[in-house]
Amino acid sequence: MARPAVFVTRPLPGDALKLLGRRTDLRVWEDELPPPREELSRAAAGCHGLLTLLTDRVDAELLKAAPDLVTVSNMATGYDNIDLASASRRRVLVTRTPGVLSETVADFTFALLLAAARRVAEADRYVRAGRWKSWGPSLLLGRDVYGATLGIVGLGGVGSEVAKRARGFGMRLLYHSRTKKPAVEKRYRLTRVSLDQLLRNSDFVTLHVPLTEATRGMIGRRELRTMKDTAILINTGRGDLVDRAALVDALKWRRIGGAALDVTSPEPLPADDPLLQFDNVTLAPHIASASVETRSRMAGLAVENLLAALDGRLPRDTVNPKIGTAWRAARRSRLGDLA
Ligand code: DGY
Repeated sequence: MARPAVFVTRPLPGDALKLLGRRTDLRVWEDELPPPREELSRAAAGCHGLLTLLTDRVDAELLKAAPDLVTVSNMATGYDNIDLASASRRRVLVTRTPGVLSETVADFTFALLLAAARRVAEADRYVRAGRWKSWGPSLLLGRDVYGATLGIVGLGGVGSEVAKRARGFGMRLLYHSRTKKPAVEKRYRLTRVSLDQLLRNSDFVTLHVPLTEATRGMIGRRELRTMKDTAILINTGRGDLVDRAALVDALKWRRIGGAALDVTSPEPLPADDPLLQFDNVTLAPHIASASVETRSRMAGLAVENLLAALDGRLPRDTVNPKIGTAWRAARRSRLGDLA
């Protein structure tokens, strides 16, 4: 029996692909690295459903080459890898996987915060290099997390979970968000302030906003100069939220205390990237959501969204729901007898 054609751009953890394989004519890119551009274009050209990751660029050109495409299911909360305007123009439904990763990303944000505050990565390098000669009263002194002020930029799912953890550490909490969040504010005793006030008063600044044209480079020279010279910048959102050259300069001239980055621009970082030269920068390869449980949940949700769209149902996690009616008609004509 003929079934909708689906391309998945990498093997996924958990059992989600088994379910997808039962319902669709499934092809999975089996490599550890993302499919090269031409491969992705070629695969998209012949399929009804694409399951993508944040490493796959779905732009106008790719969408144009995929006339039968009904849906792109992105296995991520962010969807800045997808040209949403082009997808909507072409009546392609785009979905994402929010909610299922907030706690896991918040855990990792705290792992980075603690690692940076207490110089864990540096200490590990120190011991392995055989430099540990004695306990010392001034050896690898860090900063206290307890009692410090944490500035949370963006109080969505992840930001709120970060606030919850910070309460347990006895931190004072500031947040900056376009909209007031009275319930979360009250629950975790947060104070809403302007971005400048947050930067000026925080010992740790953590970023939890999506990457959009409005937030790109939101932490630039001026913002880094506004931060305390002891403050640590934590980023588990997207690398492009921070002006990279300005960050390198701020670290070089010790205008901030350090940084802990799970995300960078570009990704991966080249071997000669200036960020690698700083001892007070803790780095990770975009793994904040990388737990067995959460990645399986993300894969499950991405598959669920993809199948719902192929079945003609609008998934809750649709990013462009406004195209609904036009999309339904396009879906029927693209799937033909398979609809
Ligand atoms: C997301 O979901 O956007 C994360 O960056 C990937 O875990």
